Amino acid sequence: MINPNLLHALKNLALEGAIENFIEISTKRFGETLGISQQSASRRIRELRDEDLVEVRKFGKRIWIKLTKKGVDMLKREAMDYRRLFEIAKNIEITGEVVSGLGEGKYYIMKDGYFNQIKEKLFFEPYPGTLNVRVYARDMEKVEMLHTIPGILIKGFVSEGRTFGNVKAFLCTINGKDAAVIIPERSHYSDIIEVISDKNLREELKLEDGSIVDLIIFP
Ligand code: CDP
Repeated sequence: MINPNLLHALKNLALEGAIENFIEISTKRFGETLGISQQSASRRIRELRDEDLVEVRKFGKRIWIKLTKKGVDMLKREAMDYRRLFEIAKNIEITGEVVSGLGEGKYYIMKDGYFNQIKEKLFFEPYPGTLNVRVYARDMEKVEMLHTIPGILIKGFVSEGRTFGNVKAFLCTINGKDAAVIIPERSHYSDIIEVISDKNLREELKLEDGSIVDLIIFP
């Protein structure tokens, strides 16, 4: 686990040019940049050096500093995380193939508790059922990501003595047609995702088991 204080200090040094060159820094100004005292800034520099994240050269009271390869790599890993957050999360594209389920989708979608909320929150009246799509292995990372982002909450309820859990929904297109993906909140990761729409998608898009579908999901 990266120490967030070191990461923050490293980022600020990099912003001042310490990836390419040795830059001269004053501990006073560095402390101000990081919002910490001058003593703490000196300590932070020592910690960075001890972790082999920067190379430090001293001439009298003057200090020059440059990131090591290890330091640059640490920032790159952090940058990758942000790319994952923003670039992939912009539009999640998932490909898979249509499969048959157990015929339970209809029962759930037609429960008033779900049906009414879908109308209200997703702005369409759902066709009774869910189209099941088996996601290709290479896109499973994106399915896992869907589990970690909030989506549109369809609240659970109790009906006839049974508890129906929270479900989250994401608007999407499936082969270009507007639809929504629904994920039961307590579900485990599975390679099957369920798609609902105002129309029967098998008829509308001429799909049968094994047909390949492209989903574009809007988180
Ligand atoms: O569990 P399974 O998907 O087999 O059945 P269901 O959810 O009760 O849905 C009934 C049928 O309608 C299934 O063949 C679904 O694939 C299909 N369906 C569809 O084509 N378009 C929808 N919007 C919802 C379901």
